[in-house]
Amino acid sequence: MNNYSLLNHNTFGMDVYAKRFFEYNSVEELKRIIEDIPADEQILLIGEGSNLLFKGNYNGSILHSKIKGIDIIEESENEVLVRVGSGKNWDEFVEYCVKKGWGGAENLSLIPGEVGASAVQNIGAYGVEAKDIIILVEAVEIRNGQSRVFGNAECNYEYRQSIFKKELKGCYAITYVTYKLSKHPSLKLDYGNIRSILNEKKEITIEDVRNAIINIRNSKLPDPKILGNAGSFFMNPIVSKEKFLSIQKKYPNMPFYDTPNGIKIPAGWMIDQCGWKGKSIGKAAVHDKQALVLVNLGGATSDEIITLSNAICESVQKQFGVSIHPEVNFI
Ligand code: EPU
Repeated sequence: MNNYSLLNHNTFGMDVYAKRFFEYNSVEELKRIIEDIPADEQILLIGEGSNLLFKGNYNGSILHSKIKGIDIIEESENEVLVRVGSGKNWDEFVEYCVKKGWGGAENLSLIPGEVGASAVQNIGAYGVEAKDIIILVEAVEIRNGQSRVFGNAECNYEYRQSIFKKELKGCYAITYVTYKLSKHPSLKLDYGNIRSILNEKKEITIEDVRNAIINIRNSKLPDPKILGNAGSFFMNPIVSKEKFLSIQKKYPNMPFYDTPNGIKIPAGWMIDQCGWKGKSIGKAAVHDKQALVLVNLGGATSDEIITLSNAICESVQKQFGVSIHPEVNFI
């Protein structure tokens, strides 16, 4: 489709257009579409548009997967491997797993977006990341229409990072992702207050975990249908032990997470400490319940959002000496 409105394809609610917009229901259809796009045209691959900010109209072709379906490809007494279409809504997949009693995805309940993006973005929440359950990623190379399968290790996963965001950015359209789930799930309850919320229960199920996480998310994170947003706007920075200790001296109650690469400090906490919660620039605002989320109060321009983002980064740098960076992709 030509000159296509992207209003329903970005959760920030930017009223922008794409020169051309294509959706595909199968690998074959994707290959046909790619073949027809002129070689010099710029191409953007999108999922549900829940992690991007359009700075203006997109003067190229946008591709969106509508490949759905969940197929069991291997099943044993303990585990199940499922191959899922990249256009499947992420939370519908999580809900399906939880209903079947298969564990592994429940901590990632209610994350906006689609299955394909889970593999690009390595989505994560409450102590679990998509990489913990991803086995294979099937993709098609945009340049030549060739299919390729990436094993988990080849995806170079890190915190909110993958080969599809770095070295191979924009090179592959993901078509299917295969996940491994457990029929005897071990629950991950150590993040934040999940355990305490569930404590009164004797036998905790993955359904209980899903429900608890849905409640936490609904209490903090704005619904994009009501208030445009793209989830966490910034990544949580990882700092050296020395840096962490020097900040902790001044802020003994600062929350933090130890990681193999250093200490992760919640950017939302720092932004909150800088007094940004609920503040706005034009129609762009810092969410009043979670300072890591920037929201569109209605009719915000991308300039207003970027101005707000820059001002926040500057004040966090000034107060804490820490650089924070957007998690959201600017297009
Ligand atoms: N905090 C504040 N004020 C705020 C926000 C947070 O003091 O305004 C404090 C909280 O009290 C808590 C700490 O900061 O002690 C961390 O907050 P929270 O648990 O809400 O998580 P987060 O670090 O802000 C990350 C992910 C979220 C994910 C949650 C839960 C990133 C960039 N964000 O947020 O992911 O849901 O942890 O695991 O890593 C997303 O990526 O879109 C997203 C929502």
